[in-house]
Amino acid sequence: MNRSVFLLLISFVLTAAVPGAADAKSRKEATAEMLSGSATSWVNTEGSTMSLVFAEQGSAGVYALSGSYINNAPGFACQGTPYPITGWYYANTQVLSFDVVWTNASEDCQSVTGWTGYIGFPSSGPTMTTNWNLAYATSSTGRAIEQGADTFTMTSVSVRKSLIAE
Ligand code: BTN
Repeated sequence: MNRSVFLLLISFVLTAAVPGAADAKSRKEATAEMLSGSATSWVNTEGSTMSLVFAEQGSAGVYALSGSYINNAPGFACQGTPYPITGWYYANTQVLSFDVVWTNASEDCQSVTGWTGYIGFPSSGPTMTTNWNLAYATSSTGRAIEQGADTFTMTSVSVRKSLIAE
């Protein structure tokens, strides 16, 4: 048996042995394509919402993230108005990082949050699993960092398509 026939056989056996493996891969690829240049909306378990645009930089699967975050989490300030998001998403590994500086025309909380995590693509829809650090200044203790975790689910995606034939 030559090498390429052997490799073909191995890849068939591996795909067959892992139920859903081929499905998961094509779902991931299709979703990455769908995300590129699209405006997506997300909500976390605390009721905070964010809109995120994925803009591919070159063709290496690196996406610049931009958008806005509305904090609705109980117990925090700077609620109910949009704050700008900046970040990066790496499609090959599905990891991402983004941050929000909590200053806008409505309120200045003198704080910043950074999230790191990854996007999963289960059949129920894209999910973002993250940990965050919130750095802030207090009058009593000076500067401090609070930590936590947020899970976001995607609520909508609006894909931009040109009306001019390519
Ligand atoms: C502040 O209180 O200084 C600014 C608002 C911080 C809101 C935090 S960020 C992490 C966590 N997830 C949310 O959706 N809101 C809180």
